[in-house]
Amino acid sequence: MAAAKLVPQDTLPAWRQGLRQSGKRLVVTNGVFDLLHPGHVQYLQKARALGDALLVCINDDDAVRTLKGPTRPLLCAQDRATMLAVLEAVSAVTIFAGVKASAVLQAAQPDIYVKGGDYTVDSLDREEYAVLQQAGAQIRIEPFVGNFSTSNLVRRLRDGAAAPALEQSQTGLHFIYARRSIRKYQQRPVAAETLRELVRAAMAAPSACAKNPWEFIVVTDKATLETIAEFLPNGKFLTQAAAAIVVCGDQTKAHGEELSFLLQDCTAAIQNILLAACQLGLGACWLGVHPRQERVDKLQKLWHMPPSVLPIACLAIGWPAEEKPPRTNFREEALHWQKW
Ligand SMILES: Cc1cc2nc3c(=O)[nH]c(=O)nc-3n(C[C@H](O)[C@H](O)[C@H](O)COP(=O)(O)O)c2cc1C
Repeated sequence: MAAAKLVPQDTLPAWRQGLRQSGKRLVVTNGVFDLLHPGHVQYLQKARALGDALLVCINDDDAVRTLKGPTRPLLCAQDRATMLAVLEAVSAVTIFAGVKASAVLQAAQPDIYVKGGDYTVDSLDREEYAVLQQAGAQIRIEPFVGNFSTSNLVRRLRDGAAAPALEQSQTGLHFIYARRSIRKYQQRPVAAETLRELVRAAMAAPSACAKNPWEFIVVTDKATLETIAEFLPNGKFLTQAAAAIVVCGDQTKAHGEELSFLLQDCTAAIQNILLAACQLGLGACWLGVHPRQERVDKLQKLWHMPPSVLPIACLAIGWPAEEKPPRTNFREEALHWQKW
């Protein structure tokens, strides 16, 4: 039965035509699906529920090596396809060549296209997006359920480590542990709408007496990113980022006009941006500005800011080109119960 679900790419148009004739709505997704895990299975069940049939397009082994490095895939394409094909949710599996799915999507003509995990519509490959638009496909981004990742699984196998509690999905706090400082970025832009969303998240932060004294300067202009990077001795990698968000605070608006409140308010906003960025699949890193006076002066001068407005930090933002494991720096001895 599994073999019957394996549809070679060249016969896909005919298979698609049959589906169309029976009036079925086709859902399509694509990915690597190396070492199938519960996150994949739940994702595929959700995808299947969006239509009447689910086609899963998987990258061939050469493409997986390009995407994930020379030690992958762990299972060859035929085996990955077979694992998928036995799932009830999956109607058909196609193996496609190349890292881009545009040709296979062109052949499949999805009614609904589903992409999993850390994508947003604007982070989809532009070529694939164009094909989907042409096909009139509805696009759905479905976050992966829980923290299951083949890369993490491989790391644990290599290190001989059992899953630490914080890596388990049940706590619901994975989004906090997964936030790490990311300093390497892919060379592709982050949409203005996504950057706006990060600032919306920032302004959801608490502030003393709800004074909301923060201001945000979003920079995507390369020349300006380079100028800011020159001001920040530990932020040279900002030149590689897609954007910077400079988090500032207006001391005249802070509770009691006190610097400490201003800093605490801005810090809460900064952490919101970092967590939101991670949740959207972006990489971000905090670059210290305040209290280094020369950095504050240079940024104030760059934008002719009033002296009461203090740049507190610069956040480098981009699509990540490095992966870091989730963690906490929890120390039992730093936790005091009832007394010092
Ligand atoms: C106030 C502050 C200033 C920081 N400044 C910089 C900086 O200038 N450059 C940098 O690469 N990282 C900077 N960081 C990031 C820290 O180096 C990073 O958070 C720390 O090493 C822990 O790693 P993690 O964020 O991956 O958990 C800063 C973090 C904070 C809170």
